[in-house]
Amino acid sequence: MTLRDAKPIPNRPDVRDSGTVPEPRKDIERRGDAPERSPQRERPLISRTFAAAPATSNGGSSAVTPRDSTPSYAAQRTETHAEVEAETHVLTIEHFNLHYGKHHALHDINMNIPEGMVTALIGPSGCGKSTLLRSVNRLNDLVDNVHIDGAMRFRGENIYAKNVDVIELRKRLGMVFQKSNPFPMSIFENVVYARRIAGERNRRTLREVCEKSLRGAALWDEVKDRLDGSALALSGGQQQRLCIARAIAAEPDVLLMDEPCSALDPIATAKVEDLIYSLRGRYTVLIVTHNMQQASRVSDYTAFMYLGRLIEYGPTAAIYQNPRLRQTEDYVTGRFG
Ligand SMILES: Nc1ncnc2c1ncn2[C@@H]1O[C@H](COP(=O)(O)OP(=O)(O)OP(=O)(O)O)[C@@H](O)[C@H]1O
Ligand SMILES: [Mg+2]
Repeated sequence: MTLRDAKPIPNRPDVRDSGTVPEPRKDIERRGDAPERSPQRERPLISRTFAAAPATSNGGSSAVTPRDSTPSYAAQRTETHAEVEAETHVLTIEHFNLHYGKHHALHDINMNIPEGMVTALIGPSGCGKSTLLRSVNRLNDLVDNVHIDGAMRFRGENIYAKNVDVIELRKRLGMVFQKSNPFPMSIFENVVYARRIAGERNRRTLREVCEKSLRGAALWDEVKDRLDGSALALSGGQQQRLCIARAIAAEPDVLLMDEPCSALDPIATAKVEDLIYSLRGRYTVLIVTHNMQQASRVSDYTAFMYLGRLIEYGPTAAIYQNPRLRQTEDYVTGRFG
């Protein structure tokens, strides 16, 4: 059977008898524990005049141009579990399509991201996970010949509206890439970079931010005696944790992480997973991972993508233990992918 003609499976029994995927963590802190948001986080990305831009407008960015929708986009509806819809959503994605030239990479994505939760994006290589993540903070603007239509909204504001401040957008939706990208400067300056750009000059404050962020990224003990040394002299795994520290030091609302642990050893991976786990409540995390155990351990919700489509999206425990669609089951049990 191909994935396209898979049928829903009503009331499926537990599919994880093979024991290949661990139980998701149950001791999840809920959003009610979240501290007050700082006033800076409530700043609009765009003037209110543009906040209610139509859902199909992309606002005319230089590289990204809209295309008309075609009926073929609606080939398969996403199976979205009710629990996702019951949450408060920080990001909403509506009928979002993306083409790289003639290649239709994202098909009619409809997805709401719960606030203060960790959502994992899973799916086989090439299914569009990174493309979707990059679209959220408009990194695809930098790619030639990209065309989008549909809408993405951050706290109700159209991310692709004409007058959106893309720099501000990327501050609010910080990104950690699969390949680390430390700046050619000291470890200290890397971590506090966003704070400096924002005008923070108080050395003590910057030191506090640096230590807290490096501790959060499980790197403090390894670098505390060489903060003025070059970030480029760190090992690959250390550089990746430095980039995570830099991202959290900027205090984004949403942390977008594209396979952040793929270059890390098991110990560093465990530390970063602990970090991601501890961020819930304070931050919304959208994380791409190929590691099912990781998705299962760190996320509240899991979204399964295949061939550019969002197939099934629901609570992590349900996606792994009781998926509604056979293609989800086939993927999470390792039958393909
Ligand atoms: N800059 C680009 N130009 C053209 N095609 C691209 C570009 N980036 C990605 N694609 C294509 O879009 C599709 C989705 O790619 P994407 O990188 O989003 O997949 P992915 O799910 O992140 O895969 P992986 O798990 O291997 O990282 C692929 O077919 C890929 O070849
Ligand atoms: Mg990718």
